[in-house]
Amino acid sequence: MRFPPSFLEELRARLPVSEVVRARVALKKAGREWKGLSPFNTEKTPSFFVNDQKQAWFDFSSGKNGSIFDFVMLTEGVSFREAVERLAAQAGLPLPQSSPEEEKREARRKTLYEVVELAAQFFEESLQSRTGARARGYLADRGLLPETIARFRLGYAPAERFALKEFLGAKKIPVEDMVEAGLLIAGDDIPVPFDRFRERAMFPIHDFKGRIVGFGGRALGDVEPKYLNSPETPLFHKGWLLYNGAPARQATQKDHPLVVVEGYMDAIAMVAAGFEATVAPLGTALTEDQIGLLWRMAPEPILCFDGDKAGTRAAFRAVDHALPLLAPGKSLRFATLPEGQDPDDLIRSAGADAMNEVLGKARPLAEMLWIRETAEARLDTPERRAALEQRLGELLRAIQDETVRRYYREDFQARLGRLFAPASSAPAPYRPPYAPRGALRGPNRRLPEPRAGLSPRSSQFAQRSVTHRGQAGIPAREALILLPLINHPWLLGEHAEELAALDFRSPDAEALRRALLDAMAADAAEDFATLQAHLASTGASELQARMERAISHRSDWTARADAAPEDVQAFWHQIASLHRRKRTLSKELKEAERALGADPTEANFARLKDVQERITVLDGTEALIEGFGASSGRPARSM
Ligand code: UTP
Ligand code: MN
Repeated sequence: MRFPPSFLEELRARLPVSEVVRARVALKKAGREWKGLSPFNTEKTPSFFVNDQKQAWFDFSSGKNGSIFDFVMLTEGVSFREAVERLAAQAGLPLPQSSPEEEKREARRKTLYEVVELAAQFFEESLQSRTGARARGYLADRGLLPETIARFRLGYAPAERFALKEFLGAKKIPVEDMVEAGLLIAGDDIPVPFDRFRERAMFPIHDFKGRIVGFGGRALGDVEPKYLNSPETPLFHKGWLLYNGAPARQATQKDHPLVVVEGYMDAIAMVAAGFEATVAPLGTALTEDQIGLLWRMAPEPILCFDGDKAGTRAAFRAVDHALPLLAPGKSLRFATLPEGQDPDDLIRSAGADAMNEVLGKARPLAEMLWIRETAEARLDTPERRAALEQRLGELLRAIQDETVRRYYREDFQARLGRLFAPASSAPAPYRPPYAPRGALRGPNRRLPEPRAGLSPRSSQFAQRSVTHRGQAGIPAREALILLPLINHPWLLGEHAEELAALDFRSPDAEALRRALLDAMAADAAEDFATLQAHLASTGASELQARMERAISHRSDWTARADAAPEDVQAFWHQIASLHRRKRTLSKELKEAERALGADPTEANFARLKDVQERITVLDGTEALIEGFGASSGRPARSM
């Protein structure tokens, strides 16, 4: 079917290419464009560009390019129609239903809904009938009250091979519809299609509009498989649905915490115990789509896992799945159940309060990740510690959102600092390089208790560090990098990419950096007046004022609007490069301190001294540059 051009246009307008692409490619601002690593080839230097104004992307590594629709088709391997449907869902646009073919398809789906609904009614009736006695007993033994059974529309599929088929046949439903709805087992080598679900307790699965689209069937005894689910059908897409999704969404509106459990029985037990915003995936691990669905319902859904090995593995898998998707404010929390118990068991044995306590202890995702990487790791040699740091670095790269990634990096660095801090709070004794190992610390040092704060040794060095000059202030250098860009917007145009790659210590500087990049993206950095207006309209003027105050004691003429372009250019270039080198050195300093703290050898001491010397040299350079940038002839201050 053809979608009306106006509909496609509307989708393009609602979804910037960068937003669609970002689900797969980490993007960095590059002037007016975005760039990143090609999703089509492995490469080290980015050759993939996105231009939101042109509503297009270009991949120079493969020569591919196109629209948001092409991108989804190529990277997800779906048809044009499917791509449009997904993007429409992402944009929150209902699909148009105009063409005759689409109407026919829609009519067909309607028929299938009716077929599945009839099947659900049949299962419900069977449960209450004479043949349903065993299933009724089973559900009662599992603690399900009649009202819960009615609320979830639980049923029973009789043991006979043709029970449902005959029931639906009597209602004039064609066999092919039953097959398409996933209710019969059929195939080339199956001469007579027969009921898929037999001798099972039936759990209807609803979509978010509350229509039944499929079933999960539980064996009444020790029969494999324990649960049998509907196959993928035109109505039933496992990865796109959540058991109890629609009622849970409503409950989140009433401030129930959103909880994800593994099984249907768990979800039902949770709801019956008052945790109404509980959902479960449909017999598979959570998909990315499902995580997206969860985030539309609540910012930090709690995932519940069994405390055993398998449960822990499943939790870690979910962590990995979620990493690339994290966005500001959107995360997952992880609740660990007592070993060997699922929520259903726990509620039955210890009650809703016990469950509530488990939920209350849910851990943030960052902590789960940290536990995974360190709990089993032996960190008793520099190489092993380096390996840990490297692994954390790789995980960070999986996070696509730049801001979230930055905060994760900080979080990991703080944790590493605590982990590798000297075990005693007294200054670590100097140890000659060839002293026998183990004299000072155990050879297989495992995780020490996390300790708050830095050791005296470490903080003593930290005071010398370029990055530790008071907690709240804006370093003049950061202001000196940002203000010229505001006063000379052409400079911003030329150096946006560099600016995007800089990191600032001050949150204000960081916020202003983002505001400037946003202005670029919004085409509002053409000239001084436009940029000022944009900053004012986005509330960033206050940040600008703070930068100005941070250097009010100086008179750096390059920051002023009437400075000559060549001078401004040269100054900016130098200060930005200085900033980068200082940030790198300050990271090296921290690492060297950490290394010395963990392993006080002469080599580590030498390494620390070396970094400190390089910082001293750079401080000298900085004084020179500042002399270059200041007009009053006052002696330049060291930062
Ligand atoms: P569990 O085996 O943990 O099931 O599987 P459960 O819900 O605790 O089952 P009970 O309490 O023994 O009845 C969790 C979920 O995994 C899927 C189902 O969705 C189930 O709810 N599953 C499990 C299957 O799809 N097939 C299986 O064979 C087993
Ligand atoms: Mn269970």
